[in-house]
Amino acid sequence: MFTASQDRKIKLGIVTLLTLAGIGAIAFYFLRHPSVMDVGYRPQQPVPFDHRLHAGDLDISCVYCHSSVETSAHSTVPSTETCMNCHISVQRESPKLQLVRDSYERNEPIRWIRIHKLPDYAFFNHSRHVNAGIDCASCHGEVEKQGVIAQKQPLTMGWCLDCHREPESHVIRTREITGVDVDPVLLSRPLSQGPQHCSACHH
Ligand code: HEC
Ligand code: HEC
Ligand code: HEC
Ligand code: HEC
Ligand code: HEC
Repeated sequence: MFTASQDRKIKLGIVTLLTLAGIGAIAFYFLRHPSVMDVGYRPQQPVPFDHRLHAGDLDISCVYCHSSVETSAHSTVPSTETCMNCHISVQRESPKLQLVRDSYERNEPIRWIRIHKLPDYAFFNHSRHVNAGIDCASCHGEVEKQGVIAQKQPLTMGWCLDCHREPESHVIRTREITGVDVDPVLLSRPLSQGPQHCSACHH
């Protein structure tokens, strides 16, 4: 039907269109929500620390290591001293703990790579959530079953608001493993909604 040169032009046109559509679709997927990419984010940490062993098998409560969650906006990663409470005597020769011993002796913190991170313009307060009887697992998954921590939730505004509108269908109530002391009376009452006005999260 077409001459050879027309045929080539048509084919080239189709290939170009498909390529552009492909690039467009990929760009749309990633640009629409930067945080989409963060679900599953699981960096290689400097020390092969295992939550399944420490929080799961050994049953060490979350707040033993993440002590600031109950009292401040931020949760923190434990200091080397916390590790050395045990590792001064437990597995003291282990090569996997060499970096921990070095950090202790040189008094230099271990450079853990941060996984969960909101943009600076959004405000989040751990203690308010944790003290309301909301378990860590509601937002971080069952960490005590994860060998290596990965981000489980998108941390988008929609994610915050879905739970604030309907907390009962998103919240896991405080479990013993967390180590947070919550008044049992509070735990038996239904949760109140979280705020939905802009200034609650954008100061
Ligand atoms: C023995 C100490 C210890 C205990 C107990 C512990 N953690 Fe951790 N946690 C760490 C260390 C060290 C890191 C940083 C390395 C990593 O990400 O694995 C961490 C990282 C995390 C992170 C990721 C932080 C980030 O960068 O975003 C979360 C979430 C977390 N822990 C939740 C928990 C929860 C929930 C529990 C209880 C079920 C718990 N942890 C128990 C030591 C501990
Ligand atoms: C309450 C005590 C306790 C604390 C606190 C603790 N650990 Fe451990 N850790 C243990 C025990 C017990 C083992 C398992 C020993 C075994 O398998 O014989 C272990 C094992 C390990 C191992 C594996 C060692 C190997 O050779 O298999 C690493 C790595 C480790 N811990 C890192 C850490 C880090 C990093 C911290 C601080 C964030 C920490 N631990 C805090 C008790 C503790
Ligand atoms: C309502 C949801 C929610 C609950 C409940 C929650 N977290 Fe988080 N967590 C977050 C968010 C969101 C971030 C990122 C915060 C930021 O960037 O300011 C985060 C960050 C963290 C970090 C890394 C922060 C840092 O300072 O390096 C740790 C560690 C952590 N959470 C531990 C815990 C522990 C332990 C519990 C339970 C005692 C818990 N979280 C309960 C939502 C939650
Ligand atoms: C799993 C459910 C859940 C998720 C996810 C959640 N929240 Fe909340 N939040 C609540 C509930 C329930 C309350 C009300 C707590 C109370 O009774 O005081 C609350 C309260 C708040 C408050 C008011 C208390 C204060 O600190 O002033 C702010 C602000 C807030 N949340 C911010 C956030 C942000 C930002 C996110 C997302 C990064 C988020 N929340 C994710 C359940 C959640
Ligand atoms: C419960 C907490 C919460 C409330 C309430 C809230 N935001 Fe957000 N907002 C966030 C978080 C967390 C982010 C960052 C994550 C993201 O980009 O989705 C964000 C991001 C944004 C962004 C950046 C653009 C984007 O989507 O990436 C804008 C603009 C914004 N919010 C406007 C608003 C306005 C306007 C309101 C009131 C109608 C509002 N927010 C209410 C938590 C909240």
